[in-house]
Amino acid sequence: MAAADIIDVADLAAIAEITVDADLGALNTFGLPARAARLARLRSVAALAALIASPGWAQWPRLVLGGGSNLILGGELPGIVLKVELGGRRLVREDDGAWIVEAGAGENWHGFVRWTLAQGWPGLENLSLIPGTVGAAPIQNIGAYGLELAERFDALDAVDLASGEARTFELADCAFGYRDSVFKRAPGRWLVTAVRFRLPKAWRPVTRYADVARELEARGLAAPSALDVSDAVIAIRRRKLPDPAELGNAGSFFKNPVVEAVHCAHLLAAHPDLPHYPQADGREKLAAGWLIEQAGWKGRDLGPVGCFERQALVLVNRGGATGADVARIAHAIGADVEARFGVRLEPEPVFV
Ligand code: EPU
Repeated sequence: MAAADIIDVADLAAIAEITVDADLGALNTFGLPARAARLARLRSVAALAALIASPGWAQWPRLVLGGGSNLILGGELPGIVLKVELGGRRLVREDDGAWIVEAGAGENWHGFVRWTLAQGWPGLENLSLIPGTVGAAPIQNIGAYGLELAERFDALDAVDLASGEARTFELADCAFGYRDSVFKRAPGRWLVTAVRFRLPKAWRPVTRYADVARELEARGLAAPSALDVSDAVIAIRRRKLPDPAELGNAGSFFKNPVVEAVHCAHLLAAHPDLPHYPQADGREKLAAGWLIEQAGWKGRDLGPVGCFERQALVLVNRGGATGADVARIAHAIGADVEARFGVRLEPEPVFV
């Protein structure tokens, strides 16, 4: 079926920019080859509503695409890919305690963070330089260097792609967890259109992450500003993580596994230097990067996909990789780590 069958051609421009048999190679940061039967670029919520109301919509498999930085694409996608390009950034309101700031889901995350800092609204600085869009950020509750999005979240607006209903989600509705949310558990159901953040006026720098504390100390910053913290985080990330513009990747490839305390104690007996972080529920979070490095994978390639030499948790595209190549090395690393440590690694990006 052609796009014209679901949407009147004359209305195309008014609804959304739609490409048939679209190349997704430049729309995923791993640089994997993939094509979509339809690609719609959404620049307004009204365009989305019109698309959902069009005949035939219900039968199309759907994929919502932000910055494409947390995706492993596997080839030909049937149906329709919705590329979210909803823009806009504004101060919604200000009370005694906080600034409530909103951004359209298609805004670049890092650009939004730096904009809030330039306005004098601190709070998101530890999440500087994370690739992707504002709308994708709550899906996996992005977190880095001592802060999770959930800690600065106010609410978000989303559209139910099955019914077209618009809904606002408050913090409690999102069921945020480590790299997890209600949205991540229902793939393809919700399209986030805008996100609001609560940036507290009683700001204190978050420097509990050892790398951040060390970087600020090295810069001689005993009382850092939010911009100082942002600059420090940017420097740390540039040192450790590959720039997707230069070397295809999807950030951390595995989640840090959480294990029972007794399992952790058992591992510690054999590996006293195992990094481990106690969780509120008594379990222990382990560093997947450490486990992968100990298993000998750091810097190693399997076909065109490599385990990054400066951070073992990141897989990179050395050139010409496909989704199947990525799946192959991910499986090999996962099986090896499980055999050695009895720990199952869960991929962090979404396989499509
Ligand atoms: N480690 C190793 N070898 C490695 C990598 C790490 O031994 O190759 C050890 C480190 O020495 C350290 C521990 O593992 O003791 C943790 O390493 P790091 O501080 O680099 O953080 P991470 O746990 O590997 C997580 C997030 C990152 C985030 C950083 C900083 C996940 C899956 N990853 O990585 O998030 O930037 O912490 O907060 O939780 C992402 O999600 O894409 C991402 C980059």
